[in-house]
Amino acid sequence: MADRILNPTHAGGYGQAGPALVDSGDLASPGIPHTPTAIEAIDLVKDYGRGDGAVHALRGVNIRFGKGRFTAIMGPSGSGKSTLMHTLAGLDGTTGGRIIFDGADITRLNDRQLTLLRRRQIGFIFQSFNLLPMFTAEQNIIMPLTLAGNKPDRAWFDMLVDTLGLRERLGHRPNELSGGQQQRVAIARALISKPSIVFADEPTGNLDSLSSAEVLSFLKQSVRELGQTVIMVTHDAVAASYADRAIVFADGRIVADQADPSAEAMSQLLVHEAEGAGNALRSGQALGAGSRTRHAQSPAHGLRAQG
Ligand SMILES: Nc1ncnc2c1ncn2[C@@H]1O[C@H](COP(=O)(O)OP(=O)(O)OP(=O)(O)O)[C@@H](O)[C@H]1O
Ligand SMILES: [Mg+2]
Repeated sequence: MADRILNPTHAGGYGQAGPALVDSGDLASPGIPHTPTAIEAIDLVKDYGRGDGAVHALRGVNIRFGKGRFTAIMGPSGSGKSTLMHTLAGLDGTTGGRIIFDGADITRLNDRQLTLLRRRQIGFIFQSFNLLPMFTAEQNIIMPLTLAGNKPDRAWFDMLVDTLGLRERLGHRPNELSGGQQQRVAIARALISKPSIVFADEPTGNLDSLSSAEVLSFLKQSVRELGQTVIMVTHDAVAASYADRAIVFADGRIVADQADPSAEAMSQLLVHEAEGAGNALRSGQALGAGSRTRHAQSPAHGLRAQG
C-alpha cells in the first residue's frame, strides 16, 4: 500500500526493495549492484571564481547513482561534497560536464525549468534544517506544496508524520522543537512532494546520537521499503554504515567507492586517506593523483578507485 501512496508515477522506482540485480559493468563500480540510474554526473567540473584565485571544487567527477539506493558521501572538509550535492540538485550552476537526470542534461535547463524540477523531483535536507521560524511544523512540512499552489496528499502526509514521530509537534514552531525534531520536520518537508531523489547534506550533523540513529533509520527505511533514492553527505563512519555504498571525496575528486560500507572499513579508509594526503603534502605531490594510486593498494574490502 505504501507503494501506491508513495509514488504512483515512478515507474520501477518505489517498491523495488532489496538487493538487485545485475552488474552492468557500465559507470557503476564493480561490486556495486546495478539498478536503473537515478542521476549521473559526467566529467562534472565546478570552479568558484576565475584565474589565479579560482577554487576547483569539482575536478571532473564521474559518478552514477542507482535508483532506490542509499549512498553516503564522505571526505575532508572542503573536498567538494556539498558542491557536488548542490550541483546535482540544481541549486548551483556548473563550470563543465553534464548531469543526466531522467534522460536529460539538467545543466542546460534555465532557472524556471530548474525551479520546477527541484520542486517536483528533488528533496534537499540541509544540515542547518533551514526551517521557517514563523511557521509551525505542519506549515513547514507542506511549504513546498504551498509554494507550488498544491494541496498535500493527506495519506502521505499522515504516513510521514507518524513514521517520523511528529504527530504531537505539528502545531509547534521550530524554536519549540528539539534539534532532532527540527531535522525530522526538515526530512518530512523534503519528502512531502514525493521526490525522485533526496539529497541530505550532513542531516545528522547537529543531532545527538539517539536522534541521529532515528533519522538514519528513517532514511534507510525509506530506501528499503519505499524504494527512495537517497544521497547523503556525512563525516560520521557510523552514519555511512547505514548506506548501501559510500564514496570518498578528496580535493574535488572521488578517491574511493565502497560497497556495503561498515563503520570500521570507512574509519580505516578515512584515516588511510588523511595519512596519504598528509604524506602527499609533505612530499609536495598533488593530492588527487596520489590518493588514487594509494587506493589500488588499499586493504579495505571492496574498495574501488573511481573518478
Ligand atoms: N560560494 C563559494 N565561493 C567560493 N568558494 C566556495 C564556495 N562554496 C564552496 N567553496 C569552496 O569550494 C571548496 C569545496 O567546498 P564544499 O562546501 O563543497 O566542501 P565540503 O566537502 O562540503 O566541506 P565541509 O565538509 O566542510 O562541508 C572549498 O574549498 C570551499 O571553500
Ligand atoms: Mg559541506
